[in-house]
Amino acid sequence: MTFPTTRPRRLRQNASFRNLVAETNLNPGQILWPVFIVDGRGVKEPIGAMPGQFHYSVDQLSEVNSICVQQQLGGVLLFGVPGKKDARATGAIQKNSLVAQAVQELKSKNPNLMVSTDVCLCAYMDHGHCGVLGPGGVIQNDPSLELLSEMALRHAEVGADIVAPSDMMDGRVGRIRRLLDEQGFSNTVIMSYAAKYASAFYGPFRDAAHSAPSQGDRKNYQMDPANVEEALREVALDIEEGADIVMVKPAGPYLDVISKVAARFDLPVAAYQVSGEYSMIKAAAQNGWLDEPAAVRESLLAIRRAGAQIIISYFAPFLSNFQ
Ligand code: PBG
Ligand code: ZN
Repeated sequence: MTFPTTRPRRLRQNASFRNLVAETNLNPGQILWPVFIVDGRGVKEPIGAMPGQFHYSVDQLSEVNSICVQQQLGGVLLFGVPGKKDARATGAIQKNSLVAQAVQELKSKNPNLMVSTDVCLCAYMDHGHCGVLGPGGVIQNDPSLELLSEMALRHAEVGADIVAPSDMMDGRVGRIRRLLDEQGFSNTVIMSYAAKYASAFYGPFRDAAHSAPSQGDRKNYQMDPANVEEALREVALDIEEGADIVMVKPAGPYLDVISKVAARFDLPVAAYQVSGEYSMIKAAAQNGWLDEPAAVRESLLAIRRAGAQIIISYFAPFLSNFQ
């Protein structure tokens, strides 16, 4: 049936109708907030390249918990930004690591807060790469798995609900799953950064996490933006290895990847609206070039519409402004 019988505008005539027939929405319970943890006490330092985001020391985390409760967020995704780095990522795998302390602090404040942790070595390595650096500047895959799985175990031991490996080494999901299971943490969820691209949109994050590689780039472990079939192979492998949730990252420039992953696999799909996506909107809004709430809402809805159930976004703490 066509016009004049069919008039699609009928269902757009006011906000109530639009709301009634909306196919997607921004359920805050499916949005996670990435939070950066630093050494020290009493620290709440603004991150220059990411207006509205802060470095928090562990003792400042009650504010993070309050925001999560107020906004009814799905939870947090913690990143450690340690002062001390070395060639063995000691800060990542030692007992009582920065992130382990943060998990304990948040869980003691609020046992119901969903705490997930990023698992990667780059912020703890003096060379800034996500794995172990070998001769000739080559990142060594298999030796990295040992450190990554130890790091994930440290997080599970103190009560992290979800561990999220973001390193893109081959086989790390299987290795982490095996170690967690052996050690009695079969209920700890693995959300793998399954299709993680070598993206220019991580720029502001590397500033925030002090994790830029001192030499070279990440193109021999993160994915080439030219590829989508490869993303499907990466996701299939992570699922075989035991991932519970698979992530696509970045989100906005990779909506086609989210859509294909969601169509092909029946696991929950997460998408990470990364630092560059955040800072671009912030910068434009600060110049008066974009209507921030409208742009944020649209960018998040697009990610949801593409097929992501879970969204990781720095806009999470401000979500009520965008509903
Ligand atoms: C670490 C990691 C990165 C991000 C998440 N985990 C940076 C990178 O891989 O260079 C990016 C997040 C963001 O840009 O918001 N492996
Ligand atoms: Zn890394």
